[in-house]
Amino acid sequence: MRTKTVKVSYIKAASEIFAEAGEIIRSGGLVAFPTETVYGLGANGLDAAACAKIYAAKGRPSDNPLILHVADRAMVNLVAKEVTPMAERVLAAFAPGPVTVILPKRDEVPSSVTGGLATVGIRMPDSDIARALIRAAGVPIAAPSANTSGRPSPTTATAVFADMEGKIPLILDGGPCKFGVESTIVDCAGKRAAILRPGAITREMLAEVLGELAPPPVLNEKEAPRAPGMKYTHYAPVAPMTLMDAPEGETRRERLFAAILDAVCEAKADGKRPGLIVSRELAEKISPFRLVPPERVAVYGSADSFSEIAARLYESLRYFDETDADILFAEAVEEKELGVAIMNRLKKAAGGRVRFADS
Ligand code: TXA
Ligand code: MG
Repeated sequence: MRTKTVKVSYIKAASEIFAEAGEIIRSGGLVAFPTETVYGLGANGLDAAACAKIYAAKGRPSDNPLILHVADRAMVNLVAKEVTPMAERVLAAFAPGPVTVILPKRDEVPSSVTGGLATVGIRMPDSDIARALIRAAGVPIAAPSANTSGRPSPTTATAVFADMEGKIPLILDGGPCKFGVESTIVDCAGKRAAILRPGAITREMLAEVLGELAPPPVLNEKEAPRAPGMKYTHYAPVAPMTLMDAPEGETRRERLFAAILDAVCEAKADGKRPGLIVSRELAEKISPFRLVPPERVAVYGSADSFSEIAARLYESLRYFDETDADILFAEAVEEKELGVAIMNRLKKAAGGRVRFADS
């Protein structure tokens, strides 16, 4: 199958492409499209056979449920059996936007789409292109991130093409995604709202509209995570990566720098070619040492801007697809606000390899 990428800059001028994309979805095919978080790989969310193609194209385990994307509040009722007061508040405050609510599903939603669960994830993206596509299709669109399972999520059409070439007919190119990390998932089906995956809508923001939230889960190897997808290896770059962290406080950045410098020297002594995923500030400090060539340094943004780091995180991880680096070190961020979501993805990309600078 030939994969066509079409740039979409103006919704009105691009109506022909939406007619074509909507028709592909209605007839059971796949279309990749931009959202404000990451690119999604879409299919008719009420068509089990169409959704099976998503699992095949991604190599995704069948027990990992898909999120259904809707264009407006009315469409939520097509997929949710009940919209709880908690969900109403989250939707009123943050939709359209980077949030997904978990609600009891209607029978019309195939259980193969929800990994056998009685609940369904619902999201109203704040991307004109995404909502125009859903309207053109006239059905809720099931869409996971448009990457091969286990790889970093795509935040550009080029990254989608790298993973999906030959597997899908159409990619809508809306430029780079604004947020860069996937939506916050909030379980609104139980007694108390719980965050199943951190994202750009932070715990603090949710607490303002929901009051108290269930405490963040303590990582427990034995217990299955409530968002099934969170148990799998994720976002992993091609070379093994270690996340370098340091205690909070005034000396944090100094310690991180020293720890990364040490790790690089150690790796080189072992005959390795280290690559770095770091802030602009750290990159500038390490460059005079001439230990790592510039082409093996991916700058994910300024250490002072979580939003910049989130937006460039996955591209920084994917950057190493094309270099000769054989071991990677990534700089941790502070686990607060949007930093919680960034660290969640970095830890998964590192497959749990975290090295803490000792005091
Ligand atoms: O920002 C996003 O949410 C992006 C864009 C494309 O909208 N989508 C996305 O989908 O990140 P995906 O499939 O990569 O991640 C969906 C996550 C998985 O961890 C899955 O297990 C969880 O949502 N999930 C989906 N339905 C669920 C349900 N009923 N209960 C619990 N977790 C659910
Ligand atoms: Mg994903």
